[in-house]
Amino acid sequence: MTFLAPLRPAPWPPDGFAAEVSSRRIHLSPPHLTGQEAAALQAVLDSGWVAPAGPAIADFEAAIAATTGFRHVLATASGTAALHLAFRVLDIAPGDEVWAPGFTFIASVAPAVQMGAVPRFLDVDPASWTLDPELLRRELRAAARRGRLPRAVVAVDIYGQAADLDAILAACGRWDVPVVSDSAEGLGATIGTRHAGRGARLAALSFNGNKIVTAGGGGALASDDPVLLARARHLAHQAKDPAPHYQHSATGHAYGLSSLLAAVGSVQLAALGRRVAARRAIFDRYRAALSDLPGVAFMPEAPWGLGTRWLTAMLVDAARFGSDREALRLALDAAGIESRPVWKPLPDQPVFRDAPTAGGAVAAALFARGLCLPSGTGMTMEDQDRVIATIRKACRA
Ligand SMILES: Cc1ncc(COP(=O)(O)O)c(C=O)c1O
Repeated sequence: MTFLAPLRPAPWPPDGFAAEVSSRRIHLSPPHLTGQEAAALQAVLDSGWVAPAGPAIADFEAAIAATTGFRHVLATASGTAALHLAFRVLDIAPGDEVWAPGFTFIASVAPAVQMGAVPRFLDVDPASWTLDPELLRRELRAAARRGRLPRAVVAVDIYGQAADLDAILAACGRWDVPVVSDSAEGLGATIGTRHAGRGARLAALSFNGNKIVTAGGGGALASDDPVLLARARHLAHQAKDPAPHYQHSATGHAYGLSSLLAAVGSVQLAALGRRVAARRAIFDRYRAALSDLPGVAFMPEAPWGLGTRWLTAMLVDAARFGSDREALRLALDAAGIESRPVWKPLPDQPVFRDAPTAGGAVAAALFARGLCLPSGTGMTMEDQDRVIATIRKACRA
């Protein structure tokens, strides 16, 4: 696939901009259909192969492999299911530590916690908002001295920006700790010339309805290791041993993706290059139209690759902007515009009250000031202008 260069942002306000607010609600990141999904669904229905097996699944897995470069891909019912399978094939056991950045969605660690693992949350780097490799290096050294290394480290791509995977792999490689890449938000992002997540032992992708492309729900587990992926495939389909009757040497899951959703996913995946360019253009437009406001900043782009800007994330300094992140969110909401605070750090979630941490000030500061703006590629220029005008109006500096 090709990653198109970002478009030049249009000047703001645009010619002929009318200030009246339309009543249509603008959502954060709704699905953007191509128009070809219905025909793909009909073809699967006509074929009769609607179960979580068959040619539509094989085609989707091949398309994901071709897009990302991973050698082996398993389509799953969700990104969370893919993460669960990753932890299962790494044999995470009760009491094992699994480390992850605190600044992420709960699904990055939830399946491991459900398996009895103890999560430990490390802070993120302010330059990328992803796991801080320097902190990871230090914490791994200290853990090795204590004789209690983590059984896995989860690197997470955030808002379309790939984690600093090479540095994370180098830190973990020294102690032979496997890295799982939670690339649910990283589809289409790059590290150098390779796709986000490549190089990790296993990577999880998501085709959830709010993602850059969607299957209407679904995910994938990807790896270059055929043995791990074959084991995951076995577990994803109820761990059936080869026998004419039902025979099981382990308990598995019903984690296969429906062929109907796989067909939708294949159509959507073909549009990924266009969607990346469009998300980046939306980000550039917001930044060009809002950066002159006092106290406004945008998520930085890391130097090691090209992000997708899956969600445009903006920081608001209340003292300079004149109102805080929550006041801005409410102003947008009143204007019929959905926005959402950036990830609340996992150590601050009631469920992880007692979880051990390393640092956390960066994630806490991001949560205090960060807001995700509508970023769906189906948004019109007028939609974007409405968001921009509402934010400018909310600035009371
Ligand atoms: C960082 C992260 N990890 C995991 C997931 C889980 O993916 P899914 O919703 O497909 O289960 C998501 C998104 O939903 C996510 O944003």
